[in-house]
Amino acid sequence: MKRLQGKTCLITGAARGIGAGIAKAFSDEGAKVIVTDINDDEGRETASQIGAGYHHLDVAEEGDWAAIAEAVPAIDVLVNNAGITGFEDSPAPQDPENASLDDWHRVHRVNTDGTFLGCRYAIGAMKQKGEGAIINISSRSGLVGIPGAAAYAASKAAIRNHTKSVALYCAQQGWNIRCNSIHPAAILTPMWEPMLGEGEEREANMAAMVSDTPMRRFGTVDEVAALALLLASDEAAYITGSELNIDGGLLAGSAASPG
Ligand SMILES: NC(=O)c1ccc[n+]([C@@H]2O[C@H](COP(=O)([O-])OP(=O)(O)OC[C@H]3O[C@@H](n4cnc5c(N)ncnc54)[C@H](O)[C@@H]3O)[C@@H](O)[C@H]2O)c1
Repeated sequence: MKRLQGKTCLITGAARGIGAGIAKAFSDEGAKVIVTDINDDEGRETASQIGAGYHHLDVAEEGDWAAIAEAVPAIDVLVNNAGITGFEDSPAPQDPENASLDDWHRVHRVNTDGTFLGCRYAIGAMKQKGEGAIINISSRSGLVGIPGAAAYAASKAAIRNHTKSVALYCAQQGWNIRCNSIHPAAILTPMWEPMLGEGEEREANMAAMVSDTPMRRFGTVDEVAALALLLASDEAAYITGSELNIDGGLLAGSAASPG
C-alpha cells in the first residue's frame, strides 16, 4: 500500500520549486493532489505532469481561500509552502533600518497571513473527519536573525510559532490534526537562479553560497519532499507541534564558534 493512498492533499505555491517537488512525491505515493499557485500557466503544467488537479490560490487573499473551501471542502493534508523573500520584484533594502513598511507588509501578507489563512481553512476542512496533517514550510531564517531580510525572517519565525498554537489547539479539541513546521536552508530551486549566474561563474557562486554549510552543498527539492512525505503520512502519527530542520547541518553549530 502506498504511503498516502486515499488522502487528498492540497499544496500552496506548488507550480515550481519545493512545492512542485512535494506535489510529485505525494502523487507518487498515491495521494489525490491539488496543486495551487498564483502562476496559473506553470501550475497547470506541473499539475498535468503528475496527474493532479489545479486551482488558482493567492494565499494572501482571504477570498481565494473561501473559494477553495467551497471547491475542496475536505482534505487530509495541507502544505503551506508558498512564500516570498521580498526581493522578487525589487532590489530595495530589506534590513531593519531601511526597509519600507509597505515591503514589510508585502512579505508578511504572503508568508504570515497566508499561513494563518491556510491553517484556518485546513482545520475547517479536516475537523469533520477529526484527523489530518498540516505542514508549514518555515525556514532556517525563522530560527536565526537575518539582517538583510528582516521581514522574511520575522515572518518565518511567526510561522514556526503559529504551527505550535495550531498543534496545541487541535489537540485540545480532541482532534487528531497534527501541525508541524519544516525549516529548510539552501535548497536548490528557481528562487536561487538569479544569484547563481552561468558557466564557470555558476560553480564558484554555488560553492561560495554553501561555504558555511557543514555538508558543503545545496539541498535538493526531493530531500525536502521526503521530509514532508513523512510528516503527511500516518508514520508520523505522534509528531505534532514539532520543527524539523533540513539544512545540511547549518543550525547544528555556530558560524561564530569560539577559537
Ligand atoms: N529554496 C530555499 O533555499 C528555501 C529555504 C528556506 C525556506 N524556503 C521556503 O520554501 C518555500 C518554497 O520555496 P522555493 O524555493 O520553492 O520558492 P520558489 O520561488 O521557487 O517557488 C515559490 C512558489 O510560490 C508561488 N507564490 C508566490 N507568491 C504566492 C502567493 N501569494 N500565493 C500562492 N503562491 C505564491 C510562486 O508562484 C512559486 O511557484 C517558501 O516558503 C520558501 O520561503 C526555501
